[in-house]
Amino acid sequence: MSKDAMDRIVSLAKRKGFVFQSSEIYGGAASVWDYGPLGVELRRNVADAWWSAMVHARNDIEGLDAGILMHPRVWEASGHLSGFTDPLVECKRCKKRWRADHLEAGGLEDAGCPRKPSVAPGGHGDCELGEPRLFNLMFKTFMGPVEEDASVVYLRPETAQGSYVNFLNVQQTSRQRVPFGIAQVGKAFRNEITPGNFIFRTREFEQAEMQFFVRPGTDDEWFEYWRDERMKWHRELGIRAHKLRFHEHGPNELAHYAKTALDIEYEFPFGWQELEGVHNRTDFDLARHQEFSGKRLVYVDPAGAGRFLPYVVETAMGVGRAALVALVDGYREEEVQGQKRVVLGLNPKLAPVKAAVFPLMKKLGLPEIARRLQSELRSARIPAAYDQAGSIGRRYRRQDEAGTPWCVTVDGRTRDDDSVTIRDRDSLQQVRVGLGAVAGWIRERL
Ligand code: GAP
Repeated sequence: MSKDAMDRIVSLAKRKGFVFQSSEIYGGAASVWDYGPLGVELRRNVADAWWSAMVHARNDIEGLDAGILMHPRVWEASGHLSGFTDPLVECKRCKKRWRADHLEAGGLEDAGCPRKPSVAPGGHGDCELGEPRLFNLMFKTFMGPVEEDASVVYLRPETAQGSYVNFLNVQQTSRQRVPFGIAQVGKAFRNEITPGNFIFRTREFEQAEMQFFVRPGTDDEWFEYWRDERMKWHRELGIRAHKLRFHEHGPNELAHYAKTALDIEYEFPFGWQELEGVHNRTDFDLARHQEFSGKRLVYVDPAGAGRFLPYVVETAMGVGRAALVALVDGYREEEVQGQKRVVLGLNPKLAPVKAAVFPLMKKLGLPEIARRLQSELRSARIPAAYDQAGSIGRRYRRQDEAGTPWCVTVDGRTRDDDSVTIRDRDSLQQVRVGLGAVAGWIRERL
């Protein structure tokens, strides 16, 4: 898929109300995006699919929703205050900054020198690139009315720390035994130096993270288990297998907390990039919180199988990034009966609207029947749209672009035999189904 296709996906996302630029009427806020009516549903469906697989379908993972703001010592203990930094190179002439590792890798097609003519950083005769310097990626703010150093707090750059500091609270209240996990879905914030590629890298984003606490010595085994489970999840969601791959971190790529780590990568139109990370964080985080808080976080096995500080295997996915993968992977342009159509082939589970109901004509009582059907579907908790504007062909196209899997048409025959036509977005096949059976028919396929 070309970069050009990426532009078309971005334009579709805006046109259909998936994603808007934040504060657009003020000229936009850099690298923050607002999810519109379809986008918020898509993102929620991604998070729900994750929650259902990680929490509801298992006995060994509990949910948690920790605060975004935490005690500032958390970030000293976690190493984010000292270690969560990117080395940046600044041009003294134009003041633009680039990540040093991106400069080395030469991956700067979109982020070259801002001066004209457009060249690579340092390419003009009078460019003055400085030495790499470290910048912390955490957003700082103040707790309470007084802006002073004592009240500095940070917006969390990952949800994981909330799970570590609550490890014993969750373990004891849920009476879980190691191995078990804590899952969270929530916002994280990073003052990214080179955000971009639409919603791929943003400064405010949602994470779906799970921390799995295991007995030391079993961590490598669990790391492999979660690596395979997470890849399976993406594939089962319908993401094409040949667009997914593992990338193991070399020693220079490892985060400060990781013993081993790998990314599940997706081939975006702008290249192979991380979609999700799986990390063996050892007992780094728990040991540090124990040291900095002075509170023991040792696990005592209720069946007498020892006491120890667990190791942690983490799975960490960006929800917006997974939504972007669903958009990119599902986007198709094709020709049907001599006409071009754009389709978002989203997994029906992820589709924002599951069914659209159309009256064939705006008369003979067909709109009333269609409205009734829409409301029945909604009562059955199936998000359903209603559209009576324009030809049936145009209505199909509108829904194809939104990723709606099924369109239901109420026509003249409906009045005679209470049946409707359901048209499938991908196969284009049409079947006749009884009015009262539509909700069940859709539920079965979800
Ligand atoms: N707790 C570990 C952790 O945060 P990470 O690899 O830095 O690990 C996990 O982030 C996932 O969060 C990434 O794989 C990506 O999907 C998502 N993510 C990270 N930074 C992001 C950003 N600036 N914008 C959007 N998603 C991001």
